[in-house]
Amino acid sequence: MIPFSPPRIDEATIAEVVDTLRSGWITTGPKTKQLEKEISSYCGNSHSLCLNSWTAAAQLFLDWWGIKEGDEVIVPAYTYCATANIVHHLRARPVIVDVKSDFTIDVDAVKRAITSKTKAIIPVDIAGLPCDYENLYKLVMDEDIISLFNPGSEQQEKLGRILIFGDAAHSFGASYQSKMAGKFCDVTAFSFHAVKNLTTAEGGALTFNLPNAFHMEHIYKELNTMSLHGQNKDALAKSQKGGWRYDVVSPGYKCNMTDIHASIGLVEIKRYHGNLERRKFIHERYSKAFSELSYCQVPLGEEEDRCPSWHLYLLRLIDLTEEKRDQLIIDIESKGISVNVHFIPLPMLTAYKNMGYYIKDFPVSYDNFSRVISLPLYYQLTDEQVDFIINQVKDVLKAHFNG
Ligand SMILES: Cc1ncc(COP(=O)(O)O)c(C=O)c1O
Repeated sequence: MIPFSPPRIDEATIAEVVDTLRSGWITTGPKTKQLEKEISSYCGNSHSLCLNSWTAAAQLFLDWWGIKEGDEVIVPAYTYCATANIVHHLRARPVIVDVKSDFTIDVDAVKRAITSKTKAIIPVDIAGLPCDYENLYKLVMDEDIISLFNPGSEQQEKLGRILIFGDAAHSFGASYQSKMAGKFCDVTAFSFHAVKNLTTAEGGALTFNLPNAFHMEHIYKELNTMSLHGQNKDALAKSQKGGWRYDVVSPGYKCNMTDIHASIGLVEIKRYHGNLERRKFIHERYSKAFSELSYCQVPLGEEEDRCPSWHLYLLRLIDLTEEKRDQLIIDIESKGISVNVHFIPLPMLTAYKNMGYYIKDFPVSYDNFSRVISLPLYYQLTDEQVDFIINQVKDVLKAHFNG
């Protein structure tokens, strides 16, 4: 069976992890700090903070930003549940809006959803494809929208408008209008979960792109402290001679990244360019092959001012019901190819149905979901496997669509 998305673990990764294990320092330390530097330099940001997941990174930051009960945060229907769950954890209300045919958040729908309670928008770069940031920024900078904004914390007051917090769980390495992911939004969170383009097994990072009024050195220190229970010294500082005494400045979270995880990331980031090139090659090969069939709708690739990170290959079929799509998945899997669906829209999940959301109100999300199949896309796929996937999937499709 060709797996869907195995991590790329080889001797280089193992050697780096073993080096950490042998070093005597396995929790947050020099390798995590090194990874932060590498991420900042790759993305073009002054500061990055590595944490133990996208979810923890988002919760930590949005809590610090002052998102709380009574606030609204706009999220797309077409995403993984984490995007909206973290809003719920902060006792705020996730306001779900529909997406466009390219799977990214619909800026007109965002505009209609903004109220005086809106504090943030979380656009999601699904499959690694950057959202329409130009129009999102035009919207939050619009005078009428700014006059509606009601800041609820010192930070919000300083920004003076709705925050754009990027869900870049899929888009490390994507670019938009000559900027790398990590620079598209005011603040961005990456995921380094096992299936992501760049992994640390579990992990995530925040990158910052806030205006000059924000003192980044202070913010980095404050969030770093908040990721360690609000303790003003980390384990490394405490381990120094005479360094045992500490204080807890505020009741923080516990979501730091360990050096074991960071060591995997250090190997990944060093060879990331080659990873992206290979993914792009496979993505384009799929698109060339499937666009020969009139009932296939291939995903967007590289455009003039936006380039995806080639994280997922979302193949849609024209005129297909959800039930028929499910049958196609069974047939493809019976050929020895693992496939997937990204994602079940939030309003179809019990938790969000119970909050009063109905999928009928999100027709584009449902249409995208009901006709989509994610094909394997990763560095280690050989050319032979790619050809096998193309041929087998084509055979299954031809049988269903009669030719
Ligand atoms: C779009 C999106 N956002 C957020 C997350 C959450 O990432 P993590 O597992 O690192 O918390 C994921 C994970 O799959 C995701 O796909």
